[in-house]
Amino acid sequence: MKRIGILTSGGDAPGMNAAVRAVTKTAIHHGLEVFGIRYGFAGLVAGDFIPLTTADVDHKINLGGTFLYSARFPEFAQEEVQKKGAEQLRKHGIDAVIVIGGDGSYHGALALTRLGINSIGLPGTIDNDIPYTEYTIGYDTASTTAMDAIDKIRDTASSHHRVFIVNVMGRGCGDLAMRVGLASGADGIVIPERPYDVKKIAETLKHGFAEGKDHGIVVVAEGVMTAEEFREELLKYGDFDARANVLAHMQRGGSPTVEDRVNATKMGNYAVNLLLNGKGGLAVGMEHGELNTHDILDLFEAKHQGDFTLLDVNDEMTKLD
Ligand code: F6P
Repeated sequence: MKRIGILTSGGDAPGMNAAVRAVTKTAIHHGLEVFGIRYGFAGLVAGDFIPLTTADVDHKINLGGTFLYSARFPEFAQEEVQKKGAEQLRKHGIDAVIVIGGDGSYHGALALTRLGINSIGLPGTIDNDIPYTEYTIGYDTASTTAMDAIDKIRDTASSHHRVFIVNVMGRGCGDLAMRVGLASGADGIVIPERPYDVKKIAETLKHGFAEGKDHGIVVVAEGVMTAEEFREELLKYGDFDARANVLAHMQRGGSPTVEDRVNATKMGNYAVNLLLNGKGGLAVGMEHGELNTHDILDLFEAKHQGDFTLLDVNDEMTKLD
């Protein structure tokens, strides 16, 4: 193996740049050449490759987004498109690839491995929805960004004795909502994986106001419903001065936190070492703080297990009976 490629795919996540930097520096340290593949799998098929030197990844560890750019490219599910991608890699003398992205990106990494280009997947998504890992690159920054936003929302909510229903991202996964909700002292956290009771949340909010609380916060995962829909539900159970707020893409931006920089760096470094040991078709994850690997194929059979103790803790603190 002489030359490796690296790409970021799907929704960008803070810390992706730190991972690209770690891959580049580790690979160069081991005498490899590194090519950045721009615009994810779309750029792979188009042959949009740029050589990366250590200078190119200088001053990138602190940057949000992905300087390699990203794309959603469902066309890569087609075998002919995958073959075109593999041909581009061979044409450029690239023997192996590291893919940073979410679930969909792993399909691409596995396809390349099967076509003879060893590929390793790193979990890069704010959603934290990937099986066999308790952490994905970007999850911590997105949680922190959403928490900071809710802190600001609370200032105005308190000034007007209002309830704010805040939608956070996460697709079908409630991890971001649970973490942000707990960190924001939410009166209610609503996630797709667990049943919820709007009436009970309304009672908690009413009780809070009756006890002298001057605001209410309910965090609703986007995978359940919109903040506006939840607001309408809530108003059936009380005469609240309620507002709906959607944090949306601002959660994906910003300089990565220490956790995201450190974990992305460890994962990037680990991925290169896996390739150096001739491995491919593997996904890197983290369990109990330790890096792990699983066959990408196994991930497709599995479901991500969130830490539902976060919800249990919040429920115990907010329930009235
Ligand atoms: O997967 C990351 C994510 O930000 C999800 O939380 C969200 O549902 C989706 O991407 C938004 O996708 P897009 O940026 O394509 O609108």
